[in-house]
Amino acid sequence: MKYGYFDDENREYVITDPITPWPWINYLGNEDFFSLISNTAGGYAFYKDAKFRRLTRYRYNNVPMDNGGRYFYINDHDTVWSPGWKPVKTPLDKYECRHGLSYTRIKGEKNGLEAEVLFFVPLKSWCEVQKVKLTNNSPEAKSFKLFSFMEWCLWNAEDDQNNLQRNLSTGEVEIAGSTIYHKTEYKERRNHYAFYHVNSEIQGFDTDRESFVGLYNEYSGPQAVLEGKPRNSHAHGWSPVASHYLEIELKPGESKELVFILGYVENSDDEKWESKNLINKVKAKDAIEQFNTPGKVDAALKDLQKYWDDLLSGYVLNSGDERLDRMVNIWNQYQCMVTFNMSRSASFFEVGIGRGMGFRDSNQDLIGFVHQIPERAKERIIDIASTQFEDGGAYHQYQPLTKRGNDAIGGNFNDDPLWLILSTTEYIKETGDYGILDEMVPFDNDESRAKPHFDHLKASFYHVVNNIGPHGLPLIGRADWNDCLNLNCFSTNPNESFQTTENKSGGTAESVMIAGLFVVYGREFVKLCRQIGNNDEADAAEPHVDRMVDAIKKHGWDGDWYLRAYDFYGKKVGSKENQEGQIFIESQGWCSMAEIGRDEGMVHKALDAVKERLDCEYGIVLNNPAFTSYVLEYGEISTYPAGYKENAGIFCHNNPWIMIGETMIGRGEQAWEYYRKICPAYLEDISDLHKTEPYVYSQMIAGKDAHKPGEAKNSWLTGTAAWNYYAITRYILGVRPDYDGIIIDPCIPSSWKGYGVSRKLRGTTYNIKVENPDGVCKGVKEIRVNGKKCNDSIVSYSPGEVLDVEVIMG
Ligand code: GLC
Ligand code: GLC
Repeated sequence: MKYGYFDDENREYVITDPITPWPWINYLGNEDFFSLISNTAGGYAFYKDAKFRRLTRYRYNNVPMDNGGRYFYINDHDTVWSPGWKPVKTPLDKYECRHGLSYTRIKGEKNGLEAEVLFFVPLKSWCEVQKVKLTNNSPEAKSFKLFSFMEWCLWNAEDDQNNLQRNLSTGEVEIAGSTIYHKTEYKERRNHYAFYHVNSEIQGFDTDRESFVGLYNEYSGPQAVLEGKPRNSHAHGWSPVASHYLEIELKPGESKELVFILGYVENSDDEKWESKNLINKVKAKDAIEQFNTPGKVDAALKDLQKYWDDLLSGYVLNSGDERLDRMVNIWNQYQCMVTFNMSRSASFFEVGIGRGMGFRDSNQDLIGFVHQIPERAKERIIDIASTQFEDGGAYHQYQPLTKRGNDAIGGNFNDDPLWLILSTTEYIKETGDYGILDEMVPFDNDESRAKPHFDHLKASFYHVVNNIGPHGLPLIGRADWNDCLNLNCFSTNPNESFQTTENKSGGTAESVMIAGLFVVYGREFVKLCRQIGNNDEADAAEPHVDRMVDAIKKHGWDGDWYLRAYDFYGKKVGSKENQEGQIFIESQGWCSMAEIGRDEGMVHKALDAVKERLDCEYGIVLNNPAFTSYVLEYGEISTYPAGYKENAGIFCHNNPWIMIGETMIGRGEQAWEYYRKICPAYLEDISDLHKTEPYVYSQMIAGKDAHKPGEAKNSWLTGTAAWNYYAITRYILGVRPDYDGIIIDPCIPSSWKGYGVSRKLRGTTYNIKVENPDGVCKGVKEIRVNGKKCNDSIVSYSPGEVLDVEVIMG
């Protein structure tokens, strides 16, 4: 069942039924000021950090679902309704929500009155603009009442929920004309306040929640709205809110547009006050001035659309399959930018107070957006590397505001360092900017210990080499990519975190996944060294990679697939010898991408085993058989009920590793089948089962052992976005930048006749046309550039030029 449709021309998903199986959300904002918005206008706004600078209050996992937002109430002769259906939930005569790229438009109609609200954060601004258009579609004149409403968060989103003994006494506001200012804690240590404005005279307002809503009422029926009478309340402590009240009359056919602005301001210490106890409003007034007419709002929306035109112009696919095109050209790239902005902080599954930027997560996310914003990607790489230790190890997370490593979580996740080689080499291939290797980058944020970025890559490489276990395989540390395979944890205390607890020391647990990862990115490191003429470094590094290949062949192979690990006691994990968890996806992915034992048939066998044991209708599960009881020596993985998350869920992040593995051995049908299975646009028809948005990936889909296989959770903020984009664009469609040119090496279903890709890279525009006359999956027999036969499989860079590239498979 569907709840809407894709409008590709406008790059929108149009929701036509407000009662979606889960709130379907969108993100507003691109740099500093961000908002989350659901299809019923739920969600919240924050400045830079969803924990420390939360502007509006939101109640996660509440009853009913999705509580708190920027709400409009209309009281039209005692019919009370909201344009987005919620919170009032009066059945609407018409409803539509269009989620576009960084904007959302919600339209509702009741009894001939139409209300359309456009929400977005203009570029380079610190505010969310809401343009409300009211139209009288009825044959009679209408007079009705409009209330805006939002609830302020007292800045620190965690404290806001917990520290009520203090919070309920601190709230402060100011009201000046049509602007309501929220200034809690401004007089002491905060240099920021927020405001909510409307560009029209108001006939009343409210700033105290209890006065407006009524102590025992719900958002669905605030007392002031039901009575059609604002209270003109001043908040003193308790819960400050902002509500404007407007009386509106419309002739038949008449429309009226209003602009509401929710903004954030910072003032320096010497500019905080206008006079005693009155905040300095200059910057707020400036921001209001920028967007306070419908014309200014429309112009700002145009700028935003132009911004997205540019971002999306770097890779444009024309495959003839509209679902594939919309994923590659629009939604997957959009999701990658959202993960760039949010990391794993704020979604409808991540509450915005828990997690900082992950070392491994952020490096992997980068491969999904480096082509869109290379400069900011570079900055991100340097930020991440600056938190690394001299021995190559890393804090697992760092804080976005301070950019410092997070002590509370610490390090010792032994896959972390290698992802820095991935992000850096992808960045250089995309941009040609080898200069990044010479940038002086601190260790542990200590400038006095800065070294060229190249040394960070070297430290990453040798961190693996220096932490090898008894089988010659990398020590796993607290965990590798799979946060829940905690082989040194041994926790019996439910109050301990599996990620930060190491109850047994001196563990020699080893990871075959890191081994495969090391072969892939160790080779990348060697290749990079040769590329920059540092052959000594390359010669020194290479034997370590070769030794790892041997170690995997000897100790990492179980006969039909790659082992997953050795546990604390040196026993095999992911082997036929085990009762449960006999095979795991991660090592099959990385060892097949590294082509370990390919000539001996290992890659084929391992991928066949994936197909046989891990694949199911909705994707590839993480492990099989699922764990059904707690395994003390494995940790969190065995805590999840079978079929969820890391215990045999379809963890969509790692499915593309198998897709890429399949392309290594030329199995285009199989790679494509795996891609399609988890790709949201192809799941639109089963939205009622899938539950999450049909335009973005979710981290996890319930696996075959789960109660309801196919049901997804944790949409938006997941490495799934970047890896699926990477797999489809670089390996299935096969267009990938390399150091000296662009490689075109498709691996597709044999039935595909061809496709076109326009790729902008290093100042060159490649108009690529792939043809598949012989119906093969892989293999290129000829490339012609501007009609001339090219002798190489790499087409070189020609800055300033537009090249027609014809690729004939066969
Ligand atoms: C989560 C984490 C990521 C980890 C994955 C598998 O997505 O953010 O770091 O690799 O789970 O456990
Ligand atoms: C839990 C999740 C995992 C995540 C980890 C870190 O273990 O299952 O996906 O990576 O928490 O927050």
